[in-house]
Parts: sequence; C-alpha cells; structure tokens
Amino acid sequence: MKLATSVMTVLGLASASPHYGAGDISHWIPPSASDYRGPCPMMNTLANHNFLPHDGRNITRDKVIDGLGKALNFNATLASLMFDMAIVVNPEPNATWFTLDQLNQHNILEHDASLSRTDAFFGNSHIFNASIFAETTSYWTNDTLTPAMLANSKLARQITSRAFNPTYTFTASTEQFSLGEVAAPIVAFGSFDNGTVSRELVEYFFRHERFPTELGWRTRDEVVQLMDVMKISSMIGSETDLLTGEESSAGKAKRADMVRRGDLHAGFKW
Ligand code: HEM
Ligand SMILES: *[C@@H]1O[C@H](CO)[C@@H](O)[C@H](O)[C@H]1NC(C)=O
Ligand SMILES: *[C@@H]1O[C@H](CO)[C@@H](O)[C@H](O)[C@H]1NC(C)=O
Ligand SMILES: *[C@@H]1O[C@H](CO)[C@@H](O)[C@H](O)[C@H]1NC(C)=O
Ligand SMILES: *[C@@H]1O[C@H](CO)[C@@H](O)[C@H](O)[C@H]1NC(C)=O
Ligand SMILES: *[C@@H]1O[C@H](CO)[C@@H](O)[C@H](O)[C@H]1NC(C)=O
Ligand SMILES: *[C@@H]1O[C@H](CO)[C@@H](O)[C@H](O)[C@H]1NC(C)=O
Repeated sequence: MKLATSVMTVLGLASASPHYGAGDISHWIPPSASDYRGPCPMMNTLANHNFLPHDGRNITRDKVIDGLGKALNFNATLASLMFDMAIVVNPEPNATWFTLDQLNQHNILEHDASLSRTDAFFGNSHIFNASIFAETTSYWTNDTLTPAMLANSKLARQITSRAFNPTYTFTASTEQFSLGEVAAPIVAFGSFDNGTVSRELVEYFFRHERFPTELGWRTRDEVVQLMDVMKISSMIGSETDLLTGEESSAGKAKRADMVRRGDLHAGFKW
C-alpha cells in the first residue's frame, strides 16, 4: 500500500484522489459507490467539490464552517447555527459529527414535497428525481427566477403530495425549513437586492450537484449573513399567500419593499 501510494504521488495521481481540504469551485469529482450522499443538493455539491469530506462522513462543526465559508462565503456563526440544526440526525448523545447518509432519515430533516426529490412514500426521497424536478421547473416561467416562481413550485409540490401521498406530513417546523430551502438557490447563486436568480444556474446545480462555475458563477464577494437568509426566506413566504386583494400589485410591491428594507421577517429557523 505504501509503495503504491508513493508511486501514485510520483505520478501526480494523488491530486486526483478526492480529499477534504482541497475545496475548489472548479474541481468536481462525482461520488463513488461507497460515498454517502443525501437529500441536500448543496451538501452533496460541497462534498463533490471537496469543500466537505468527499465520502460524506465525519462532518464536524469546523468542516461545515470551513466548507460553507470557502464555497459560499457564509458567515461562520450562520454556518455553525446550521450545524446545530443538523446534528439531531446523529442518534448518538452529544454527537460531534453527522454523515450525509444520516440526513436521509425521513421526517427528521428530510421531508415531503421537496423540489427535486420524491416523497419517501413513493420511493427514494434523497436522490434527484427528474420527473419531480420537471414538475417544479414547470413553474419557473422565465429565465430569471423570482420569489413568486419559487413559491409557486413549492406550493405545487405540496398540493401534489397532499393529493396523492396518504402519509403526507408537513408541520409548521417543516415549513420554516422548507422556506429556507426554497430560498437557498437565491442565497447561493442570486441577488440579495432584488431576490432573483438565473434559472440556468439553479437548474444546472440541481441536475449535476456541481457548482455552475462553467456558466460564469463565482462565490459571492459579500459575506452571507443570517439576516440575508431570513430576508430571502421571508420573500418566499410572502409569495405563498395566494390572495391578491383589490390593490394586487401595489400591496404586493409594498410588502416586497418592506422585506427588502429589512422591516419585515417571516419566522425563520435555520
Ligand atoms: C449544515 C448545512 C446543511 C444541511 C445539514 C442541509 C440539509 C438539508 C436537508 C436534510 C434537506 C432535505 C429537505 C427535503 O426533504 O427536501 C435539504 C434541502 C435543501 N438544501 Fe440543504 N442543508 C444545508 C445547507 C444548505 C445550503 C447552504 C444550501 C444552499 C445555500 C442548501 C440548499 C438546499 C436546497 C436547495 C434544498 C431543497 C432540495 C429540494 O427541495 O429538492 N442547503 N438540505
Ligand atoms: C473526524 O474529523 C476530525 C476532525 O478533522 C478528526 O479529528 C477525526 O479523527 C475524524 N474521525 C474519523 C473517524 O475519521
Ligand atoms: C457573522 O455574524 C455574527 C453574528 O451575527 C456577527 O457578529 C459577525 O460580525 C459576522 N461576521 C462576519 C465576518 O460577517
Ligand atoms: C452529554 O453532555 C451532557 C451535558 O454536557 C452530559 O451531562 C452527558 O453526560 C453527556 N452524555 C454522554 C453520553 O457523553
Ligand atoms: C420519481 O418520482 C416518481 C413520482 O413519485 C416515482 O414514481 C419514481 O419512481 C421516482 N423515480 C425514482 C428513480 O425514484
Ligand atoms: C423575464 O426575465 C427577464 C430577465 O431575464 C426580465 O427582463 C423580464 O422582465 C422577465 N419577464 C417577465 C414576464 O417577468
Ligand atoms: C438583479 O440583480 C442582479 C445583480 O444584483 C442583476 O444582475 C440582475 O439583472 C437583477 N435582475 C433583475 C430582474 O432586476
């Protein structure tokens, strides 16, 4: 083994072996059969780019802070908070790590009516599902996605699930996580000012679990703060209201402005 390792190093092959710490938005290695992956397209993407352990195991607080920081410019406190939300998936008391496979447990964090996965009742709820994603993208009606389009796809997925999945479950807590997830494409790839994101970047990311670097995306320059995530989640939440009222456009525009100015926040639980 030692000899083989030295030979590989001499041949420069070691650089092709996936390892945590080599995170690079331009360097993507697909998961091997033994690598763990889960229902989160971003955690999978981070592992595929070595911003998290490529094998999907031993994901510690420090690695989440480091990976989300380097790849997405997430504030360390925000990333740490997200680790706290996630650690419940490891059943061991006082666990210090989780695996991407543990995220697959149904109704802990993984839930029904996802944008790109089918419900656990119907099949594998953690791998990308092309027909489910086709349903979602049918509501993405322009090249630039708005909070309303993302909210429409979320609502549609919930209605489909409630209609056809007899075990459909979606609690108030699920709703808060769901709003964060539906906002996530804007957080990762879009604009905080206008709450929009390129459909092309988002579709590429979901389909390939790869950063859309070849489409021109780069890690944003500003640090992503908890308030940014709350603001975008709140924009999505506002758009899940199907009423218009008399003053349709005026009312909606006013509410959207309040959210943009930071005067209004929907509950948010990351
Ligand atoms: C500690 C960090 C994170 C953990 C543990 C985590 C975990 C999860 C889990 C368990 C799901 C599945 C929910 C479902 O059943 O649909 C999910 C979905 C999702 N996550 Fe993450 N996530 C993390 C960070 C992020 C970040 C930073 C982003 C992007 C900015 C992101 C983007 C998404 C998206 C877009 C979905 C929705 C997938 C879908 O509906 O098909 N996640 N995440
Ligand atoms: C998990 O990662 C930590 C921090 O990098 C390391 O100290 C520890 O040895 C790892 N554990 C396993 C089982 O790989
Ligand atoms: C990260 O967020 C914390 C808490 O909100 C804040 O105190 C800190 O200044 C932020 N750090 C950076 C680098 O933005
Ligand atoms: C977990 O942490 C708590 C609080 O620090 C401690 O009382 C408890 O003994 C720990 N449990 C285990 C199994 O280490
Ligand atoms: C994708 O989702 C559909 C609808 O729930 C399901 O019938 C199909 O089996 C799923 N495909 C895979 C590969 O799991
Ligand atoms: C569609 O998006 C483009 C920007 O990509 C924008 O200029 C246009 O106004 C949008 N059209 C509609 C109907 O929202
Ligand atoms: C949203 O803002 C981004 C950058 O801040 C800009 O490139 C894009 O054209 C804007 N889109 C719309 C629809 O205003």
